[in-house]
Amino acid sequence: MKIPHPIQYQGSKRNLAPVILKYFPGKVVRLVEPFAGTSAVSVACAFAGITKNFWLNDYNASLSGLLELIINKPEELSDYYEKLWHQQHSDSIAHYYKIRQEFNETDDPGLFLYLLSRCVKGSVRYNSEGNFNQSPDKRRKGARPENMEKNIRGVSFLLKGKTIISSLDYKEMISGIKNTDLVYMDPPYQGVCRDKDSRYLAGIDYDEFISFLSKLNKKRVPYLISYDGKCGNRTYGNYLPDRLKLKRIELEAGRSSQATLLGKKDITYESLYLSEKLLNLIKIEPKNYKKQQYEQLAIMEKTITYA
Ligand SMILES: C[S@@+](CC[C@H](N)C(=O)[O-])C[C@H]1O[C@@H](n2cnc3c(N)ncnc32)[C@H](O)[C@@H]1O
Repeated sequence: MKIPHPIQYQGSKRNLAPVILKYFPGKVVRLVEPFAGTSAVSVACAFAGITKNFWLNDYNASLSGLLELIINKPEELSDYYEKLWHQQHSDSIAHYYKIRQEFNETDDPGLFLYLLSRCVKGSVRYNSEGNFNQSPDKRRKGARPENMEKNIRGVSFLLKGKTIISSLDYKEMISGIKNTDLVYMDPPYQGVCRDKDSRYLAGIDYDEFISFLSKLNKKRVPYLISYDGKCGNRTYGNYLPDRLKLKRIELEAGRSSQATLLGKKDITYESLYLSEKLLNLIKIEPKNYKKQQYEQLAIMEKTITYA
């Protein structure tokens, strides 16, 4: 079976995970993801057998609540999704809006899974009051319950009994992070998040982030960061400063959807930064990656059977 992915989420590192993993030391005591999202990198890492301990954190409590259900209550969540999915058939658009309203009143992570599976491009959007306001994808009905169950069971198989889940602001994690951990950070794109005070639109402040990275350096914690990038001749986000002593490489992330719409050939590149401590632990020389190369890596992934 291939690497499981129950959550459709714009910005997921699912496709880039094979190349990110190439820069992990052979064995890792614990992988920490302060901006876990769908935790695609941790799932790929568990699948590759690199570590058996994880700390997944995301400030969005509905998302960390959903990770908790996927990992620790897979049957309950699969049954709930199946019930919601079958209810949508008479009028699936009206059903989506009803579930969206219920989610905004209750924050129920199970409802969130259905919304993510059905909404446009798995793209999480909130209004200024913190209400989820993304529209349904009118052409698709969301993952079929049997596929969803397979993916949920897969993630639970890989992470249950090995994972701490939290919903903190990343800065609050510093005292819990040890120098035997490996930290992978994928903060929200700079410039994409508008309201830094809202829990749901939470973006991160550049200077605060640099200060967090300096603390990790001081504690001699190895880490990787997916951060800025470029598309055509446009760059987004600031580079991280030289004083952090990071090595930056570029990963080709494919053609941007905006460029495709405009019939252009602009390719998006994302930066991956490696900390000095990590560079001392790994043997391979960091280099830039083309999409074809990491697709090749994905094809070479072993397949495993879930118990
Ligand atoms: C780009 S996404 C991560 C995607 C993830 N790598 C994946 O593969 O799905 C960034 C995540 O950071 C979370 N986030 C935003 N601000 C945060 C903060 N201050 N502390 C912790 N998490 C935060 C968001 O809720 C979002 O899920």
